[in-house]
Amino acid sequence: MTILVGSVYGNSSSVAEECAEMLRGDGHQVEVLTLPTVDEVMAKPDSVLLVCTSTTGQGDIPDNLVPLFSELKDRFPLMPGRRYGLIALGDSSYETFADAGKQFDELLQELQAERLGEALFIDACETADPEGEAITWLQSWKTLI
Ligand SMILES: Cc1cc2nc3c(=O)[nH]c(=O)nc-3n(C[C@H](O)[C@H](O)[C@H](O)COP(=O)(O)O)c2cc1C
Repeated sequence: MTILVGSVYGNSSSVAEECAEMLRGDGHQVEVLTLPTVDEVMAKPDSVLLVCTSTTGQGDIPDNLVPLFSELKDRFPLMPGRRYGLIALGDSSYETFADAGKQFDELLQELQAERLGEALFIDACETADPEGEAITWLQSWKTLI
């Protein structure tokens, strides 16, 4: 599995690390990438992707995932059937709630990747325990892998 992390203040990173730990405990090989490139993502076509990103600015993608997002848009590498999951952190007091996650979801769909299950949206207004929410979600999501 490959976890792609977009984080500004560390919440998504911490969620990603917790998820990685749980998945490794289940015997999966998991790499967590904080500055991924398209080549890295495409190098392991059988690896399930888990995008775990917050939203910053006004609906913007965190700086560390912008290069990947732009490169995916520019090179547009189709990945038919490539499986992925999405954890999108945000704050519903913004009109652009979890937009970075939604943008990744849309782009991956355009690239013909296949989302496993529903995305998890973690709202900072609703929870002070994003890791706990993610682990609960992961329990059922991981059965789809
Ligand atoms: C300056 C700033 C801008 C933000 N902009 C948005 C936004 O546009 N939409 C949203 O849903 N959340 C927004 N958030 C909320 C963050 O996505 C949320 O706090 C998240 O948990 C941060 O995760 P991170 O520490 O991994 O970056 C913003 C937070 C800050 C501090």
